[in-house]
Amino acid sequence: MTKWFFPLLIAIGCASPAFAQKFDGLAQTPPMGWNSWNTFAGNINEDLIKGMADAIAESGMQAAGYQYIVIDDCWESMDRDANGNLVADPKKFPSGMQALGDYLHAKGFKFGIHNCAGTKTCAGFPGGHEHEEQDAKMYASWGVDYLKYDWCSTEGADAKQRYPKMRDALHAAGRPIVFSMCEWGQSKPWTWAADTGHLWRTTGDICDVWDGEPRQKWEHSVRKILGWQVGLEEFAGPGHWNDPDMLEVGNEGLTFEESRAHFSLWCILAAPLMAGNDVRKMTPEIHDLLTDRDAIAIDQDPLGKQGYRVHADERYEVWMKPLEGGELAVCVLNLADEPAEISFDWDTLEKMPTGTFTMRDVWQKEDAGTTDTEFRRQLKPHDVALLRLTPMGKPTE
Ligand code: GLA
Repeated sequence: MTKWFFPLLIAIGCASPAFAQKFDGLAQTPPMGWNSWNTFAGNINEDLIKGMADAIAESGMQAAGYQYIVIDDCWESMDRDANGNLVADPKKFPSGMQALGDYLHAKGFKFGIHNCAGTKTCAGFPGGHEHEEQDAKMYASWGVDYLKYDWCSTEGADAKQRYPKMRDALHAAGRPIVFSMCEWGQSKPWTWAADTGHLWRTTGDICDVWDGEPRQKWEHSVRKILGWQVGLEEFAGPGHWNDPDMLEVGNEGLTFEESRAHFSLWCILAAPLMAGNDVRKMTPEIHDLLTDRDAIAIDQDPLGKQGYRVHADERYEVWMKPLEGGELAVCVLNLADEPAEISFDWDTLEKMPTGTFTMRDVWQKEDAGTTDTEFRRQLKPHDVALLRLTPMGKPTE
């Protein structure tokens, strides 16, 4: 080897992106938790977050899998400190973020926080641009386990360049942190971000409107967001999920049936299940919905396949998700504003595997015959049937 060749190799090795990777092994199934934004927006403080964590533990939601407690926008002071560090708003979070993280960890939760790839968050607090390494170290020192990273005040930046900066900074800081990208699907992150984020938003913000006009111009109804997921299924898998946004389940703009449809379809989509309701005040039926083990098992199925639409007309849609062991989950959605009887033959569905399946109805908690006879069901407006299909002859657990 010539004298110059060896140092050159070392130089290339050092310059090559030693930290240019995300943390592997995280989010092997879609992350589950609770996020403050959908109900509380900027009205957050440490008592509220602690109270919510207590309620999530006591209600059985934690045991059902909801583990990340994510504090969204508005936790910060308006300015960084003299050393350029992010600081929590001392009125809202007087004990500081590390203490809050300790509280959550002591209860067995994981600690999530929000910031932004731009100069300011969407609510105008300091963003992470050009502070990536400093901020990542701070998050690691606070015990953060999940970072939701937004896209306001990015002034024409390229998400493909900007997001890897924070990914690398997190990796260099050394604490495994789930990296949740939130650039609203603008750069089609599903086509490039599998090595950057563990999940990425596919659309603008959700709101608690089923199908009508949202209240804000940047918001979208549940139905609109559902429609935009068509075709994205091939890009999701363990460690890299499409995120059709947080749950509006239990929020006042949705009927119970709409909440049930939203939850069922997000399970079919292998979507992150981030509850966004006031867990302290949820009704028993919303509690039962959010903690349903059979529905959650569909979302969290280890095969990690995102479901896809296999039938759509003006009256109803059918969505299907392959599960481990040749099983399937199927969701039939009544689009009508009235109750409707929906019927179809199973072999008319796109991508329906051959063979007969036995069926279990997730919401009715009863066996529902086989796929040898047509599906026929009366469904309330915007309600769903959610079914788990097992190949005939295969023993069920
Ligand atoms: C953006 C995100 C939301 C929320 C707000 C906070 O709109 O998409 O999910 O984080 O910012 O300001």
